[in-house]
Amino acid sequence: MSKGKEEESLNIIRGGEIPSHVAIIMDGNGRWARKRGLPRIAGHKAGMDTLREIISCAHEIGIKVMTFFAFSTENWKRPSWEVRFLMTLPEEYLQKDLPSLMEKNVVIKAIGDLNRLPKRTLRAVNHALQSTKNNTGMIVNFALNYGGRAEIVDAVRHIAGEVAGGELALDEINEQLFADHLYTRDIPDPDLLIRPSGELRISNFLLWQTAYTELWFTETFWPEFKREHFLQAIMDYQKRERRFGGIKK
Ligand code: FPP
Repeated sequence: MSKGKEEESLNIIRGGEIPSHVAIIMDGNGRWARKRGLPRIAGHKAGMDTLREIISCAHEIGIKVMTFFAFSTENWKRPSWEVRFLMTLPEEYLQKDLPSLMEKNVVIKAIGDLNRLPKRTLRAVNHALQSTKNNTGMIVNFALNYGGRAEIVDAVRHIAGEVAGGELALDEINEQLFADHLYTRDIPDPDLLIRPSGELRISNFLLWQTAYTELWFTETFWPEFKREHFLQAIMDYQKRERRFGGIKK
């Protein structure tokens, strides 16, 4: 994208409503690599560069929360060498980028069943959570060993435990209480969900939270998803009319 065109897009975006929370399913790494005759892991490596570029762009625009789907509860079904490689990426990324994330005042968060992550991965994630917890800027939230259904079951189990323990009455259960038992209890629902690579599915991502989220799809694979795609997604979002089940004003 030329500098002029990018400035124009940024001006349009700054003049409109900035989505508070953008969630992204980082998809298409494997197909991007295959198209180039490269191993799948080269696609994941390239995907990490895209992640950097998009975090930096989101920070410039002033988005408050970015959630990235990095590893799903279903991804364990992949060959063990690929799972092992994927598990090294959070460590590599956080080790390299923590200084620049600190400079940007970013708060790192993670959602998912983190206890199943390999020790080294968990250690790197916990270190980033601890190091950035007093920052006050953009939240960068990684979904790691995350599944939307598992999250809902987990919430149900906690709520049922509270009812069984006499801490909670049945008629106190409402949507807000349920949301307060999800991993995302301290962040707003996504306004916009982006999925690259031509797949038109939610794939068990933020099932409860995306009830009214605007969806944006592109054929572009994640490793070739650039600032221009991200800016386009935000501009398209700004043209949509969100009614949340109501009628046009
Ligand atoms: C999906 O593409 C992508 C993943 C399962 C991994 C995404 C991870 C990264 C981009 C690395 C950055 C992560 C962190 C936490 C720093 P795919 O392999 O399913 O692609 P395909 O559908 O084309 O095979």
